[in-house]
Amino acid sequence: MKINVFFTPLSVDELFFPGKTTVVIDVLRASSTIVSALQNGAREVVPVSSVEFAVKVSGGMFGGQTLLGGERNTKKIEGFALGNSPLEYTKEIVDGKTIVLYTTNGTRAVVKAKFSENLFVCSFLNLSAVASHLVNLNNNVEILCSGKANNFSMEDTICAGKLVAELQKLNENIEITDSARASLALNKSFGKSIVKMLSESEHGKVLIENNFEEDIKFCGKLNSSDIIPFYTSNVIKVMPISNSIINPDK
Ligand code: MLT
Repeated sequence: MKINVFFTPLSVDELFFPGKTTVVIDVLRASSTIVSALQNGAREVVPVSSVEFAVKVSGGMFGGQTLLGGERNTKKIEGFALGNSPLEYTKEIVDGKTIVLYTTNGTRAVVKAKFSENLFVCSFLNLSAVASHLVNLNNNVEILCSGKANNFSMEDTICAGKLVAELQKLNENIEITDSARASLALNKSFGKSIVKMLSESEHGKVLIENNFEEDIKFCGKLNSSDIIPFYTSNVIKVMPISNSIINPDK
């Protein structure tokens, strides 16, 4: 089992992904929002790569059962029911609903990796559950950090490093590429206090300026969820429990 990390989606072409097992990370905030929505009973999340497509897709679905969510410059998009704060995706609002989600970096990274044979979404919230499932699958893994405007982001790379560390704990024969090793080193240096690291990251600072400090605290809750979001037929759903291995220590 070999683990590689892409620091940004720019480093890879979408035709790289067929046959691959891929994990997409966008800690602040798309992957945390996807976990939160599914944890609170959303039927599925439809990730899209443009606002126009989000509107088009939701127009073709049943009105009351579909909610449009997402952000531009961290703010809710005009006409959308929800923004990109994981705290908005409560049970009362999302239970049983299909969420069509557009975000600047996160959902676009998922769409870029859509040809993967297996495609999962990871955040700090569900890191251990995703790691257990990957070890069970025993395939090589490509971790795709969503980054920020095709640039490196600290929080996604540290989440990738923590995922690599967890995989190494579960399987000592794991091989890692240089980028996975660099992610591990960053996690070792900055990953102990996740909320502090998130608050000091470039995107964390932007979120704080825009009054999303509570989102940062929420996105920093390590292993608060056992949800494994996986992409199938253009939507992200919860991996059924029978197909996943949940960490027995939790
Ligand atoms: C993104 O996909 O760029 C982020 O989730 C932005 C955000 O914090 O809303």
